[in-house]
Amino acid sequence: MSNLTLTINQQDYEFDNLDPRTTLLDVCRHHLHITGPKKGCDHGQCGACTMLINGRRINSCLTLAVMHDGDEITTIEGIGMPESLSELQQAFKDHDAFQCGYCTPGQICSATALIEEVKQQWSSHVTTDLQNPNGLLVQEIAERMSGNICRCSAYPNIIRAISQVLEKQVSNSSLVSDNAPNDKATDVTISGIWSPPPSEAQIGNQSIIKPTDYAANAQGERS
Ligand code: FES
Ligand code: FES
Repeated sequence: MSNLTLTINQQDYEFDNLDPRTTLLDVCRHHLHITGPKKGCDHGQCGACTMLINGRRINSCLTLAVMHDGDEITTIEGIGMPESLSELQQAFKDHDAFQCGYCTPGQICSATALIEEVKQQWSSHVTTDLQNPNGLLVQEIAERMSGNICRCSAYPNIIRAISQVLEKQVSNSSLVSDNAPNDKATDVTISGIWSPPPSEAQIGNQSIIKPTDYAANAQGERS
C-alpha cells in the first residue's frame, strides 16, 4: 500500500494506503469521482481516458497513479467547465464535433496537447518537411489524433474544430509557410471518413515529375 499526493486540476489529493496497482484513471473516476476521463477499452487503444501530465497527453488507463506523485495532472474538468469553455471546447461545440460525446473529453485533452506540439514544431509520422511541419494540414491533424477513436465517426467535424483553433493560434507564426500548398486546412475538402496517410502527390510535393511532363521535357517542348 502506498501514500502519495496527486495534483489534479490544481488541487492536491492525499492518499493513504492506495493499492499501488490502481491506475490513474481509476483513481480519478472511482476514488475522486472526477468522471470526465472515460474508460473505453482500458487497454490503451481508444484514447477516451486521455489526460495531460505536465502538459503531455497520456492514456491514463495505462499508467499507475503511484507513478505521478508531484506531477501536474489535468483532466477535461481542468481545461474548462460549461460556464468557462476553453477555445477548443467552444470550437467542438460550434462545429458539432461529437455525437454521443463519450470520446469527447479525451479528444479535447489530446487536441489541447496537439496544439502545443505543433507550436513547438514537433514533427509527426506524416510530416514531410521536418524543419517546418505544417500542423494545419488535415493529414497532420488526422495522424496526430489517430490515438483517439470516435465510434460515432465525428472525425470530419473534430478536424474542423481543431483546424479552426490551430489556424487562429499559429497563423502568425513561422509554422505556416506562405507558399506551401494546401497550407490552410479550410482549403482542403474533408471527406466523411478518416483519411489514410497521404501520398506525396496529395501533400503537394512539387518535385514530383509527371510522366507526361518528363516526356515533353525530353523532347525540348514546353510543358
Ligand atoms: S480507456 Fe484508455 S485508451 Fe481506451
Ligand atoms: S462522439 Fe460518440 S464516440 Fe465520439
